[in-house]
Formats: sequence, C-alpha cells, structure tokens
Amino acid sequence: MTLKTQIDPLKIPKHVAVIMDGNGRWAKQKGMARVFGHKNGVKAVREVVESAAEIGVKVLTLYAFSTENWNRPKVEVETLMGLLVSSLKDELKTLQKNNIKLQCIGTIENLPAKAQRELFEVINKTKNNDHMTLNLALSYGSREEIVNAIQNISKKVVNKQLLTEEIDEKIINNHLYTFTLPDVDFLIRTSGEKRISNFLLWQIAYAELYFTEVLWPDFRKEHFFEAILDYQHRERRFGKTSEQLEKDNE
Ligand code: IPE
Ligand code: IPE
Ligand code: MG
Repeated sequence: MTLKTQIDPLKIPKHVAVIMDGNGRWAKQKGMARVFGHKNGVKAVREVVESAAEIGVKVLTLYAFSTENWNRPKVEVETLMGLLVSSLKDELKTLQKNNIKLQCIGTIENLPAKAQRELFEVINKTKNNDHMTLNLALSYGSREEIVNAIQNISKKVVNKQLLTEEIDEKIINNHLYTFTLPDVDFLIRTSGEKRISNFLLWQIAYAELYFTEVLWPDFRKEHFFEAILDYQHRERRFGKTSEQLEKDNE
C-alpha cells in the first residue's frame, strides 16, 4: 500500500506550514556552494505544493525567506531573489493547472522591484483559484508581524475607532498578515533543526510539530505523506482530556 492511500481524507490538516531548511548543508555535503542547494530546493517546493493539493490541504504556507535572512552574504540573497523570480515564472502553469491561489506574507516592499512585480502578477492571475492557497512567507518575521499588528491596533485606539477593552484574540488575529487564514494545524521543519526561527509564533499556538532529518532539496511527496500520516495518528486535545474528546465525538 502506498503512503498516500493510507491517508484518512477526513483528517487532513487545513493549514500546513513548512520551514524549508537545509539547502546549504545539502550543497556542502556535495562539495558545492550554498546557492547550489537553493537551486535544487525548487523541485522540493513543487513536490510539496502538488502533494498538499492532491490530498486536499486548504492552505500551505512555505517559509521561503526570513527577515533575518537579509543578513546573509549578498550573493546568496541575490541568488534567492533571482530564484524567486524564475520559479514564479515557471510555476504559474502548475498553479493554474491545480487551481491554486498564490498569496504572500511579510514585508514584501523590501523585496527587489522585479520580484515584487512577478509576485503580484502571479497573485493577480491566480486570484480566482480556490482549490488551495499557497502562502509564501517572504521577508517574513513573526515578531515584526506582531509589532505591525500592535501599531495598527494602537492607531485605531488613538483614533477612537476601537476601545482598549475591545482588544481580544480575534482583533489581534485580524491585524496579522495571516488575517484571512485559519490557524496552523501542522508545522513541518526539515534538516533536523528543532526550532521555530521566528515563524508564525501566534498562529502555531496549537499546531502539531514535526521535525525530519531530510534536507530540503531531498524532500519528496513520500516525505510529505509520511508527515501527514504522523499527524493523523496524534490526538489534538486543546487542553481537554481524552475522555472528553471521545464524548465530543459520540
Ligand atoms: C533554507 O536552507 C533556505 C533558506 C533559509 C532561504 P538554508 O540556506 O538555511 O540551509 P542550511 O540551514 O544552511 O543548511
Ligand atoms: C528559517 O531557516 C528561514 C527559512 C527557512 C526561510 P534558517 O536557516 O534561516 O533558520 P536558522 O538561522 O537556522 O534558525
Ligand atoms: Mg537553515
């Protein structure tokens, strides 16, 4: 039996987020420059997008570039931005074919003009697709996102559009970049690192976490399905007891 056929269609996580890590180490193992790893990570992106769409994931968020990644060597940053432009051009077909809508989160205004143009073009061309949302985190930092939300909420309080007492979880949610998206159900990180690296801190409050040793350029559909199966064997209790959950399901 293939891994995919073992997946329960009734227990698919709605929102899957992926920290695509290990490109540099993958290249180093092969005696190549780090950018070679990034170039070879593109196929893994396609595999994970296709496999998520195949099983009915509604939102797939990919961490492609963090606010901290701006501190990497200039050639590496330039290569990553170049890859973003070429992949957007190449993947438009795949997105249309699979009825996938592209969206992005982060300080997009900090990306090179060419990358912004390409990004908005693909976002615009795919805006009516509704099978899955592919959400790219680009120049994204969760703390920056929270600071931005607090600033915008404060402005509303100062302008008397909002009372301090009205600030609740929903209001905060609505001021995050992810305001249109559900909470993350499942977070995958490749390459064996077990940390969050400033990714979706608010949104992963109750996410299930999954860490794999596989380096991002080696990540394939089977790895994704294996992760989903692991997710499906977990009990998400949200603070309740197992007995309560059994009752709820009766
Ligand atoms: C992930 O791979 C890609 C980005 C962060 C853009 P890395 O480039 O972080 O690879 P390692 O962690 O150095 O192996
Ligand atoms: C996180 O990976 C960012 C992305 C995958 C885009 P990093 O490789 O930058 O994270 P750290 O530095 O190991 O925490
Ligand atoms: Mg890394």
